[in-house]
Amino acid sequence: MIVVTAPTSNIGSQVLENILDSGESIRVIARDPSRMPEQTRKRVEVVEGSHSDLDVVTKAFQGADSVFWLVPADPRAESAEAAYVDFARPGCEAFKSQGVKRVVGISALGRGWPKNAGHVTATLAMDDMIAHTGVSYRALTCPGFIDNMLRQVEVIKSQGMFSWPISGDLKAPTCATRDIASVAARLLLDRSWSGVGSLPILGPEDLSFNDIAQIMSEVLGKPVRFEETAVDALKTRLLSRGMSEGMTQAMINMLVAKNEGMDNREPRTPQSTTPTSFRQWCEEVLKPAVLN
Ligand SMILES: NC(=O)c1ccc[n+]([C@@H]2O[C@H](COP(=O)([O-])OP(=O)(O)OC[C@H]3O[C@@H](n4cnc5c(N)ncnc54)[C@H](OP(=O)(O)O)[C@@H]3O)[C@@H](O)[C@H]2O)c1
Repeated sequence: MIVVTAPTSNIGSQVLENILDSGESIRVIARDPSRMPEQTRKRVEVVEGSHSDLDVVTKAFQGADSVFWLVPADPRAESAEAAYVDFARPGCEAFKSQGVKRVVGISALGRGWPKNAGHVTATLAMDDMIAHTGVSYRALTCPGFIDNMLRQVEVIKSQGMFSWPISGDLKAPTCATRDIASVAARLLLDRSWSGVGSLPILGPEDLSFNDIAQIMSEVLGKPVRFEETAVDALKTRLLSRGMSEGMTQAMINMLVAKNEGMDNREPRTPQSTTPTSFRQWCEEVLKPAVLN
C-alpha cells in the first residue's frame, strides 16, 4: 500500500499519475477529493481530511508500506517552524504507530547553511524529525522549481518581463516538478532501499535569471527581460496579501540565503541530474500558458 499526501498539489498529482498503473494499492489523503480528476479518484482509496490531523493520518497510514509526504506551507502560520515541523508532528506519530516502512518527502537544498534560511531551515528540521521516527526516509532536496515561473505568466504576457529579488547574474540549479514527481514515484515503488538519506534534484544545468530571460525570449519569440526587485518590496506585497509576519520573514531569510549561494554548494552528479531543461519546459509548459 502506497499513501500519497497532498494529491492535488503540483508534485503530488504528478506522483499519483506516475504510480496509478503500477498495480500497487494506492490511498490518498485529500481535504476535498472532488478536486482530484474523477478518473484518478475512481482508482484510489480516499481518506478525507488534512494530513496534519492525527486521526486522519492514523487511519490513512494503516497497513502502508510507503508514504509520499509533502507539506503545504500555510502562508498564515505563525512561523516556518509551525508551518513545517508542527504540521508534520501528527504524521510522524502515525508513521511510528502504524509501522510505516518508507517515506519519500519533499525537501529543500541547504543542509549545513550557517544562517537561518527560513523555509529551508524549517523543512530540514522537519526532515530530522521524520528521520528520528525510525522510518526509512529519502528527502528529495530541491532548489527553486522552474514551475514557479507560471506565477508570472500575466506580466510575461503583458509587459514582457518577470521579476524576483535574486541577482540576475547568479547561476543556480532549478528543477521541474515533473522530474521531482518521477524520482518520488520510483522510490515509492522500490522496496529495496532503507535507512535515511537525501537525494538532491538539480535539473540538468545552472542558469541565472538573465539566462532564463534569454531562453524565454527565444522560445516565446518576443523579448522578455528579468528585473531584480528589492526584498522590501516583496515583503510589503506578501504582508498585504495576508501572509503572516513570521512566514514573510521566513521567505525573506530564504531568498537572502539563496542570493548568498546556498543552492550552489551541492555538486551535480549523474544521480542528482534530472532531465528537464528550462528550454524544454518553456516550450512544453510556459509557451502554451503565455500564448493562451
Ligand atoms: N516552490 C519551490 O520553489 C520549492 C522549492 C523547494 C521546496 N518546495 C516545497 O514544495 C512543497 C510545495 O509543493 P507543491 O508546489 O507541489 O505544492 P502546491 O501545488 O502548492 O500544493 C499544496 C497542496 O496542499 C493542499 N493543502 C493546502 N493546505 C492544506 C492543509 N492544511 N492540509 C492538507 N492539505 C493542504 C492543497 O490542496 P487542497 O486545497 O486540495 O487540499 C494544495 O494542493 C512545499 O513543501 C515547499 O516548501 C518548494
